[in-house]
Amino acid sequence: MQNHYNLAHRADDALIDSLAADGIAYVPFFPLGGFTPLQSTALSGVASRLGVTPMQVALAWLLRRAPNVLLIPGTSRVEHLRENLAVAEIDLPADAMKALEQI
Ligand SMILES: NC(=O)c1ccc[n+]([C@@H]2O[C@H](COP(=O)([O-])OP(=O)(O)OC[C@H]3O[C@@H](n4cnc5c(N)ncnc54)[C@H](OP(=O)(O)O)[C@@H]3O)[C@@H](O)[C@H]2O)c1
Repeated sequence: MQNHYNLAHRADDALIDSLAADGIAYVPFFPLGGFTPLQSTALSGVASRLGVTPMQVALAWLLRRAPNVLLIPGTSRVEHLRENLAVAEIDLPADAMKALEQI
């Protein structure tokens, strides 16, 4: 299933958990906010503490959100593609997850 979902647009929270229980994949479109890119003090704060970019944190949060979440972030820049691929190696600590949940 594909639908609009990101750190600041979480109407599908319960649906994602339900799909995960049934082993059905969920692809969030606009994972970085799409036409209105995500901007948040909490997001920037976590990124700064971890030494990565806010967009990388937003993608890392989605990967950690549930096991059935698959990512297809859109980009027209090779530099961003590399940053987005590197997200698989970012481990968000519990305090970072807690801060991001406040968004
Ligand atoms: N099913 C549907 O109805 C539906 C609707 C909309 C979208 N989608 C799909 O969902 C996917 C994502 O959608 P989307 O591309 O519109 O939205 P998105 O991934 O949320 O955002 C893309 C924007 O983020 C920027 N970006 C990407 N990586 C970045 C990075 N590392 N740092 C900073 N900025 C970064 C891109 O700019 P740069 O080009 O400068 O990197 C672009 O402006 C696509 O595959 C799209 O086809 C599906």
